[in-house]
Amino acid sequence: MKFGYFDDANKEYVITTPKTPLPWINYLGTKDFFSLISNTEGGYSFYKDAKLLRITRFRYNNVPADSNGKYYYIKDGDTVWNPGWMPTKTDLDSYECRHGIGYSKWESRKNGVRANVLAFVPTNDTCELNQVKLTNESDQAKELTLFSYVEWCLWNAQDDMLNFQRNFSTGEVEVIGSTIYHKTEYRERRNHYALFSVNAPIENFETQREDFLGAYHDNRDPKAVCEDGHLHGSIAHGWSPVAAHEIKVSLKPGESKSFVFVLGYCENPDNDKWESKGVINKAPAKALLSKYQTDADVDRAFGELKAYWDELLSIYTLESSNDKVNRMVNIWNQYQCMVTFNMSRSASYFESGIGRGMGFRDSNQDLLGFVHLIPERARERIIDIASTQFENGSAYHQYQPLTKRGNSDIGSGFNDDPLWLIAGTSAYVRETGDVSILKETVPYDNDMSKATSLMEHLKRSFDFTVNNKGPHGLPLIGRADWNDCLNLNCFSEHPGEPFQTFGPSEGPVAESVFIAGMFVKYGEEYAQLADLLGDSAEAARARKEVKVMYDTVLKEGWDGEWFIRAFDAESRKIGSKECEEGKIFIESNGFCSLAGIGVKEGYVEKALDSVKAHLDCKYGVMILQPAYTVYHLELGEISSYPPGYKENAGIFCHNNPWVSIAETVIGRGNRAFEIYKKTCPAYTEEISEIHKTEPYVYCQMVAGNDAYIPGEGKNSWLTGTAAWTFVNISQYILGVYPTLKGLSVNPCVPSDFGNFKVTRKFRGATYHIEVETNGHESGVKSMIVDGVNVPGTVIPYEEGKKEYNVKVVM
Ligand code: BGC
Ligand code: NOJ
Repeated sequence: MKFGYFDDANKEYVITTPKTPLPWINYLGTKDFFSLISNTEGGYSFYKDAKLLRITRFRYNNVPADSNGKYYYIKDGDTVWNPGWMPTKTDLDSYECRHGIGYSKWESRKNGVRANVLAFVPTNDTCELNQVKLTNESDQAKELTLFSYVEWCLWNAQDDMLNFQRNFSTGEVEVIGSTIYHKTEYRERRNHYALFSVNAPIENFETQREDFLGAYHDNRDPKAVCEDGHLHGSIAHGWSPVAAHEIKVSLKPGESKSFVFVLGYCENPDNDKWESKGVINKAPAKALLSKYQTDADVDRAFGELKAYWDELLSIYTLESSNDKVNRMVNIWNQYQCMVTFNMSRSASYFESGIGRGMGFRDSNQDLLGFVHLIPERARERIIDIASTQFENGSAYHQYQPLTKRGNSDIGSGFNDDPLWLIAGTSAYVRETGDVSILKETVPYDNDMSKATSLMEHLKRSFDFTVNNKGPHGLPLIGRADWNDCLNLNCFSEHPGEPFQTFGPSEGPVAESVFIAGMFVKYGEEYAQLADLLGDSAEAARARKEVKVMYDTVLKEGWDGEWFIRAFDAESRKIGSKECEEGKIFIESNGFCSLAGIGVKEGYVEKALDSVKAHLDCKYGVMILQPAYTVYHLELGEISSYPPGYKENAGIFCHNNPWVSIAETVIGRGNRAFEIYKKTCPAYTEEISEIHKTEPYVYCQMVAGNDAYIPGEGKNSWLTGTAAWTFVNISQYILGVYPTLKGLSVNPCVPSDFGNFKVTRKFRGATYHIEVETNGHESGVKSMIVDGVNVPGTVIPYEEGKKEYNVKVVM
């Protein structure tokens, strides 16, 4: 069952009922100012950091879900309604929400009045714009009142939820004309304030929540709107500051009126905070508001946003006969890659925005799907991440986006982390050819006195694995590898001990076959970077180490039909036929196979056949089987989840593409695509009532076969799935892969995929690539570049050449 449809021409998903199974959200903002916004206009805004600079307040896990946002109430006689349906939930005569790329809009009708709302964050300013247009479609004059309403957050979103003995006394506002300023804590250590303004004269305003809602009411039936019919001009001192405007709107039949609301964030230099005693310096606010006074201003800013995205989405485009793949590749998958790059795992409807910083592992992987869009930002991110690395190559697992410092609460010891830095850097250099990044001077643990070149950082990443091997010669797992929940050194016996930080972060025995797979894959990429710098001795050393690991995996990590997953703290196998539960895991089989371990020995085919036989289900490839049915002290969090959920036999969408990529490594395009389809939002749209999450983006986890409701999705938006599926479809299935020497074209598609075209902008040139598949799954027969036959699959890169016309025959 569907709750809307894709409008590909407009790059929008059109939601046709407010009653979606879960709030279906969108992200506004491209750089510093962000808003989360749901199809019923719930959500919140923040500047740069969802925890420390939260602008509006959200109520998590509330009933009904998603019941705080940026709301517009329309009072028409005794009827009060919202264009997004929530929070009054007044039945609408028509409703439509369009989530687009960086914007959302609504068109709703009630009793002859049409409301159009457009919400977006302009590309160059720290504000959200809401254009609210009311049209009288009836044949009688209408006397309406339009009320706006947002609830301020007192900046630190965590403190805001906890520290009421202080917070109920700190709130402060100012009101000038139609602009409401939120200035809590500005009198002391803050140099920023927020504002909510409208470009029209107002009848009245409200800034104290109690006066707007009334005691024992909530935002579903605010007393000021629903009973009094007007606001009271309250000025908040403490308690809960809000911002609400009241505007009288008289509309003749057929007439429209439109209003521009600006929710903004402003900063002042410390020595220029005040206009006069106690009165904030409003110069930045005036400058901001002067840019958004008319509909024409909104049109211009909206045009800029569209142009910004059209440009980004023109870097990789696909034309094929498969609409679903076209729309994922051309629009939604890339859009989600940008959002995950911006947010890491901080702010979604499943991540509160107060818990986690940027992940070392997560951000490096997010980069893989983002780097082609804005390489300069990827470059900056790589340097930020590497600056938190320790001298021995290991890494803080997370760092804070505002301070860019490693987060010592979570600490280190996730032994896959260092290798992801090689993955991210290699992707950047392959994309851009920018070798200079490898020579950048980068600190360790943010200490400039210990800085070395980035290449030296990569060497230490590489050597961290070399220097930290266990009894079988496989990498020590530490606290955990990619699977945060496989905690082999943890042994937690008491509730409340966090699996991610409890117990020793190291153990001399527990080993990971997954990290071994990563080492083979990214060790070779490291060697290629060393070659690029002309350091052939280092490249040879690295390849020797990689070869040792390759052989070790085949000798110690092969279980007969598949790769085992790990050895526990007593050197017992995990993910082996010898185990009772957890006999086979996806991670080691996916990653060792995609790294090419055992291709020539025939192991990869076997491993992937085993994955299909044991882990496949209708909704994707499960992470492990059989599920753990009891808590295993020696395994940790993985066995804490009920069977079928999360890391315990759920379908972790993130590593489905690893298996799909692995299938392309052995040329099985049909199977690679079958796996791609199972978790692909454009395909799962049809089962939205089961899947529940947004049908235009990936979610982190879909319940597996053992779950109560298999196929149910959770944790949408912020997941490494976005980057990895884009890498899979764009670089492996469609096969347009950036190498250090130039773009390679080596597709691996289902036999009925038909011919296709990819346009790829790469290192300043545009590549027009046409692929004739001739019903083949893989194998390039010939490649003609600008009329010349080229051997192999790499298009020779020529400095300064602007256009390449490429014809590939399979
Ligand atoms: C989740 C993991 C997550 C980890 C760290 C666990 O509870 O299952 O998916 O990576 O927490 O936040
Ligand atoms: C989510 C985390 O963000 C990611 O780093 C981890 O790899 C997966 N969970 C699997 O545990």
